[in-house]
Amino acid sequence: MKFNQSNIKKAKKYLDKNCCIGVPTETVYGLAANAYSNVAVKKIFKLKNRPKTNPLIVHYLDINSLKKDCLINDNFIKLYKKFSPGPITYILKLKKDSKISRNITNHSKNLAVRFPNHKMLKNLLKLLDYPLAAPSANISNRVSAVKATDVREEFGKNIKYILDGGKSTIGLESTIINLTDKPTVLRLGGLNIEKIQKVLGSKMNINITPKKIITSGQMRIHYSPGIPLQMNIVEPKKDQAFILIKKRKIKSNDYFYISKKNNLNEAAKNLYSCLRKIKNAGYKSIAVERISNKGLGKAINDRLNRASNF
Ligand code: TXA
Ligand code: MG
Repeated sequence: MKFNQSNIKKAKKYLDKNCCIGVPTETVYGLAANAYSNVAVKKIFKLKNRPKTNPLIVHYLDINSLKKDCLINDNFIKLYKKFSPGPITYILKLKKDSKISRNITNHSKNLAVRFPNHKMLKNLLKLLDYPLAAPSANISNRVSAVKATDVREEFGKNIKYILDGGKSTIGLESTIINLTDKPTVLRLGGLNIEKIQKVLGSKMNINITPKKIITSGQMRIHYSPGIPLQMNIVEPKKDQAFILIKKRKIKSNDYFYISKKNNLNEAAKNLYSCLRKIKNAGYKSIAVERISNKGLGKAINDRLNRASNF
């Protein structure tokens, strides 16, 4: 990983030419392109094999750069002041004269926006005169990428450049909240929803598994490692990979620790790379120890639950 300005300039060169590149964020890596360019945005959908109906998140440096494109409201300001830059995505109303490519939103009037908290990506956004559309840098429905090498594993030579910013520090996608109406959480993620509730005061809705899908992360099957996965397991079956969060006395080559001290932040950070490692090692199924449903544990269990519907 090189924290140098020349790599950031190189990333800008590709983006200016309407190419898609991999970019680091604190949550997961993104597959980024110029959000004002129809041509660039179309490439994202094609590379990810993503249905056109599934809208993308747009990444901004700060509120000033956002004001050109979206209408802001009081709830947004409250949350922005407290949590951005950071692992939270807001759904806001688009301005009529916004330059955002309509391919991003599938012609809907709402836009998902996020302010990433990663030094290299912030430096890149400072150099650009457009925001970055960036879904997670994985083929649709697969496990998200948390390292530059994961992004390469997903897209191979189909993308020309990946800005390497080290391993994502949070390791789970952002929490998504719709602020165009009564605040509604659409996806659990890197920011605890209890913290959001505290700042908002009046009660918000939670709608993470609706009948009508509005966010792909709400789909029952998502974040899939591509092999069966079972949760809340005490003892795995023979030949199963076993994901653990607390250290055991017995040793086994089939044990994969995402934490040894029951630390949920550490577990979140290691989860996706662990799933990737197990898959690549050729295991045919995965068992996961019970993970407590507190704090980030809620988002971890949400992801595992969807992966278990494989
Ligand atoms: O942490 C993250 O959010 C990462 C990093 C790269 O920023 N991005 C990410 O993007 O997870 P993606 O595309 O994998 O997930 C974005 C989710 C999708 O489930 C999409 O359906 C939803 O956001 N979304 C985007 N625009 C929306 C909108 N206008 N209304 C409702 N949901 C929206
Ligand atoms: Mg995704």
